[in-house]
Amino acid sequence: MSARILQPAQGLVGSARLPGDKSISHRLAILGAIAEGTTELVNYSPGRDCRSTLDCLAALGVCITKVDADGVPKVTVEGRGLGGLSAPTRELDAGNSGSTLRMLAGVLAAHPFESVLTGDASLRRRPMRRVIEPLEQMGATLSARDADFPPLRIRGPEGSGLRPINYVLPVASAQVKTAVLLAGLHASGTTSVEEPVRTRDHTELALEAFGASVTRERRRVAVRGQTPLRGGQFVIPNDLSAAAFFLVAGLLLPKTNLVLPQVGLNPTRAALLDFLLPQGAQIKVLDVETQQGELRGNLHARGGGTLKGGVIDGALTAKLIDELPVLAVLGTQTDEGLRLRDAAELRVKESDRLHALAENLRRLGAKVEEHPDGLDVPGRQRLRGAGVSSFGDHRIAMAMAVAGLVAEGETTIEDAACADISFPGFFDVLAALRE
Ligand code: S3P
Repeated sequence: MSARILQPAQGLVGSARLPGDKSISHRLAILGAIAEGTTELVNYSPGRDCRSTLDCLAALGVCITKVDADGVPKVTVEGRGLGGLSAPTRELDAGNSGSTLRMLAGVLAAHPFESVLTGDASLRRRPMRRVIEPLEQMGATLSARDADFPPLRIRGPEGSGLRPINYVLPVASAQVKTAVLLAGLHASGTTSVEEPVRTRDHTELALEAFGASVTRERRRVAVRGQTPLRGGQFVIPNDLSAAAFFLVAGLLLPKTNLVLPQVGLNPTRAALLDFLLPQGAQIKVLDVETQQGELRGNLHARGGGTLKGGVIDGALTAKLIDELPVLAVLGTQTDEGLRLRDAAELRVKESDRLHALAENLRRLGAKVEEHPDGLDVPGRQRLRGAGVSSFGDHRIAMAMAVAGLVAEGETTIEDAACADISFPGFFDVLAALRE
């Protein structure tokens, strides 16, 4: 168990070294594996989750090479074509990664061999019924522990393949949307997915870049099956959800002068900026450009202003899903606090994040009210350093590091090494920026 000790800071100064986007990395590796030809991924996420995706693909017969090009991870994937993966000789271990397990389920549903997807203790507690249902409708055979939890056993149909479906997602989940679209790529016709709230559209953009036939209207996306994909070269932007920890910490500390370079700014992912800017956050967005459909730019942040706080509910909750832990910490330092609702999904992430946040913030002396689907975090609270837990969850570990910079005195985060699930070196990058 690795503990990290945080002391209060005055500011974050300099340019942060950030990991490549985790969501985009998973998708491009998987699409590269089922495309024709070679796919080259520059700035692939160095996190453990994205390594799990590569390891699973390798176990399915995909040839993958990883090199370090001047400190930037580069991954090359030799495509096997649609339906071209080989039967694995062992269980596929997705580690801590829900994205790996759910997205690969969509691809494996189209292969007429049995595969078993599993993961660590946290992942084995996460719900999979949401992917089982649509993939069964498409003609695959799936089973899971208590019909919901990994290990997930999957067998695709023999013969003419998967049936296309028009699926209305009961939960807002980009992972489930992706699983259905990946299965749809192999189906004999057009598969569509309609979502209750528009979630991140990295899959749709990547599919277009790989030459798939995709149509989109508002909250509905459709893909034509059995059209070969073409591999290509991609430069992955840095991860805004990783940058969020520095951005929030930086805004709260008076001496901050921070640059977050080449951050992904895809509008379906960048609700953090939409939330912070109207509250008076001093953030400049510079040098914006689009590459392979994905918007990116440099963020410059100054600290020490007052932030108003506010309400996060409905569609905004779904759009900020990975930033909610750090925004709960931010809430304690705002004028009006934070009221979070419609966030029951946080209870089935890498940990029960609502419980983890309420518990940790209370240990730091804050008042927090926990609700079945959210939190009430009053503003203008003084945090006092204390022992907190990561609950084995990377985003809780990093959110607590932000709290530790803002708190008075020393904060100890137990089991902090899990930050490397999405951000290896997080604590070193933080130490290099702190003033
Ligand atoms: C992700 C979608 C979200 C998010 C996760 C990554 C993705 O999960 O929390 O970190 O890359 O599609 P859900 O789809 O379960 O909401």
